[in-house]
Amino acid sequence: MADLQGKTVEYSKTTITELMIPSYANFGGKIHGGILLSLIDKVAYACASKHAGSYCVTVSIDNVEFLQPVEVGELVSLHASVNYVGNSSLVVGIKVTSENVKIGTVKHTNTSYVTMVAKDDDDKPTRVPPLIMETKDEIRRFVEAMKRRELKLSFNEKMDETKNRLDLNQALDILKGQRCIAKLDVG
Ligand SMILES: CC(C)(COP(=O)(O)OP(=O)(O)OC[C@H]1O[C@@H](n2cnc3c(N)ncnc32)[C@H](O)[C@@H]1OP(=O)(O)O)[C@@H](O)C(=O)NCCC(=O)NCCS
Repeated sequence: MADLQGKTVEYSKTTITELMIPSYANFGGKIHGGILLSLIDKVAYACASKHAGSYCVTVSIDNVEFLQPVEVGELVSLHASVNYVGNSSLVVGIKVTSENVKIGTVKHTNTSYVTMVAKDDDDKPTRVPPLIMETKDEIRRFVEAMKRRELKLSFNEKMDETKNRLDLNQALDILKGQRCIAKLDVG
């Protein structure tokens, strides 16, 4: 079967800019993390479906760490591009920045990596076009996405091993010195 025609990273690059209105704020006056997550998911979908030429679903969102708060009145921009493609999966890298237009400062709030899978009309994963890379950064991002995927797999395997090996006595031992109280009779 002939492969699909490749598409450049440039072709599906997507930016969304949104004003942070008061109804997006929490009780402390800062923007809810969930608002940003929803925007991340939205821009990832736009970017991935443009590359795939089909409907896509979100599989995972990695490395969501909000390092700086976003304030009401700031303009949040989400810059998305396809970093990696597999057979039916794509990884979209998203850089989130927040701009205070009055004082002219721009802060980088986070960078996240969203794995999406392209689906056909029968809801089955479907092949996506290869990625045409035209810059050193695009090549670096593709390889980094492969490494991130490998590391995540090995982390998940190690975590499963740890969970399977952990018994109650070990758990209680580990908890010594932690700020918690185990209220059960171990016998
Ligand atoms: C993700 C999903 C499509 C995988 O379906 P599946 O039948 O297991 O399909 P496959 O095993 O063929 O995997 C399809 C692709 O997903 C990737 N994938 C599956 N699980 C994954 C995971 N946890 N992390 C990263 N990639 C994953 C596979 O590596 C494969 O990629 P490739 O085609 O590029 O090699 C399916 O579980 C699904 O539809 N989940 C719900 C997604 C959704 O509705 N999201 C919205 C949230 S409400």
